[in-house]
Amino acid sequence: MEKIGFIGCGHLAKALINGLSNFKKYKIHGHDRNEANQNWLQANGHQALSLEDAIINSDVVIICVKPKDVISLCDDMKQHISLNKKVVSVAAGIKYRQIKDCLDDAKIFRAMPNIGSKDNLGITSIFSREESSDIVELFKHLGEAFTVEDEDKIDLHTSLIGSGPAFFLEIINEFEKRLDELLPDGETKRDITVTFLSSLIASIKNGENLEDIIDSIKSKGGTTEAGLNHLYSRDFTKVFSEAVDAAVNRAKELSMD
Ligand SMILES: NC(=O)c1ccc[n+]([C@@H]2O[C@H](COP(=O)([O-])OP(=O)(O)OC[C@H]3O[C@@H](n4cnc5c(N)ncnc54)[C@H](OP(=O)(O)O)[C@@H]3O)[C@@H](O)[C@H]2O)c1
Repeated sequence: MEKIGFIGCGHLAKALINGLSNFKKYKIHGHDRNEANQNWLQANGHQALSLEDAIINSDVVIICVKPKDVISLCDDMKQHISLNKKVVSVAAGIKYRQIKDCLDDAKIFRAMPNIGSKDNLGITSIFSREESSDIVELFKHLGEAFTVEDEDKIDLHTSLIGSGPAFFLEIINEFEKRLDELLPDGETKRDITVTFLSSLIASIKNGENLEDIIDSIKSKGGTTEAGLNHLYSRDFTKVFSEAVDAAVNRAKELSMD
C-alpha cells in the first residue's frame, strides 16, 4: 500500500483525496493547521497527523498550501525529510528550484492538477528533473496526467487547466440562475443543465467540430442566432479570451514573485 501525505488539506487536497480514496492501494493521511480540515480528514476516514508524522509516514508528500505559505512550510519540513523522499508541490508559481533549494535531500515534482480530480476526471501536468513515472501513475488515478519538459508550461497549465473549469462554471451558474427565474415551478434546473451539457460532451467526445455544432443549433432568424448575436455584439468571445489571458498573465506574475 502506498502512503500519501497531504500537507495542507483545503479545497484542492480534498478533491485529490476524494479521487484517490476510490483506490485501495493508497493509504491517505494529512496535516493541516486548520481544525475544520483536521476534522474533515477524520470524518472521511483519514488520520490527521503532526507535520513530522505526516512526512515520515509518507512515501509521497503532497504540498497543498497556498503559494504564499510554501517556502515557510518547506523550512519547517526540512528537518523531517529523509534522502530521496518524494515531494510533490501543487502550488501555482512556486518554482522547482525554490523547493529544491529548501528540501535538497528530496526528489521534487511540480504538479498542476484541477478540481476534476475529485471525480477522477482531472487533468494534471507534471514537471520534474527526476524520473517521474510513479508520480504520473499516481495522478493518472485522478484522470489524465502527463509530464512537461519545460517548467514554464506548468504556469500555462495553471491558468488553462487549473483555472479553466471556473470560467465554464461561471457561465453555467448564470444560466442556472436564469432557468430559476424563467421556468415554471417544479422544473429541476440541474436536470436540464446536466442533460444538455451531457449531450454537448458526447458531441465533443465524438470529435465533432465545435463551430459545426454551433451552426447546427443556429437557424437563420431563430432564437439561438438572436442570443449569439447579442453575445457577439458585446464582444463576449473577446472578453472570454481576455479572461484566459488575464489568468495566464497572473500565473506568470506568481512565478516571478
Ligand atoms: N483550488 C484549485 O482548484 C487549485 C488548482 C490547482 C492548483 N492549486 C494550488 O493548490 C494549493 C492549495 O490551494 P487551495 O485552494 O486548496 O488552498 P486552501 O483551501 O487555502 O488550503 C490550504 C490549507 O493549508 C493550510 N496551511 C497553510 N500553511 C500551512 C502550514 N504551514 N501548516 C499546516 N497547514 C497549512 C491552510 O490553513 P489556513 O487556512 O490557516 O491558511 C489551509 O487549510 C495552492 O498552492 C494552489 O495554487 C489549486
